[in-house]
Amino acid sequence: MALTGAGISAESGIPTFRGAGGLWRNFRAEDLATPQAFARDPKLVWEWYDWRRVKIAEAVPNAAHRALAAHEGLTLITQNVDGLHDLAGSRDVLKIHGDIWTRRCTQCGHETHDRVAPLPAYPPLCPKCGGIQRPGVVWFGEGLPGDVWDAAEDAARRARVLLVIGTSAQVYPAAGLIPLAKRAGAKIVEVNIERSAASEMADEFHQGPASEIVPGLLASL
Ligand code: APR
Repeated sequence: MALTGAGISAESGIPTFRGAGGLWRNFRAEDLATPQAFARDPKLVWEWYDWRRVKIAEAVPNAAHRALAAHEGLTLITQNVDGLHDLAGSRDVLKIHGDIWTRRCTQCGHETHDRVAPLPAYPPLCPKCGGIQRPGVVWFGEGLPGDVWDAAEDAARRARVLLVIGTSAQVYPAAGLIPLAKRAGAKIVEVNIERSAASEMADEFHQGPASEIVPGLLASL
């Protein structure tokens, strides 16, 4: 089983949230990725998501994404909404924080899946009812998609090895998968350029960029 965070996409050119360059117009993710921020200023929140969609549209999966996609029998859970694991060929990715390429109507719930970037206008409107669309991602204070989260917890309880790749392990409940797996007997193997909140739980800590470490590490598993 693998749990990935923004760090696995850093070498594909997508800024992480809490490292250098993580801010957008001096806003942190915590300032914008909330229902309150969206209710207050949907246009501003969409400007940030559209900025990210444009960056992500230019990004390609790196060797770490590709190595995970090539490794059979691995349950892949990601906090990332960039879709790079899917582009690399991973199937059945458990996207516990949703998908930036999905837009959901706040009125009728209709979902639009496309890679339109930049969007022609903010906020985008529902093609069915004309309601305001929101990004199809999980915001701070919101619940995770129940079926996906249940599958992620189940995988954590059954994992023999949990690869923790490129996450600061600061955001819950996602980060809770790590102690859950450890308590159930999994070996925790972390890949990060620096120590994180998961490091003290890790049985192995491999310091360095994911694209350099993950391919060889998977080959050794
Ligand atoms: N290789 C491996 N790790 C890296 C690399 C790299 N090339 N570059 C950065 N990292 C590590 C950083 O050291 C950091 O520990 O990736 C981690 C990125 O941490 P965050 O920016 O906090 O991203 P993440 O852990 O995914 O955030 C979790 O927070 O904002 C919310 O919903 C959002 O899913 C996100 C969640």
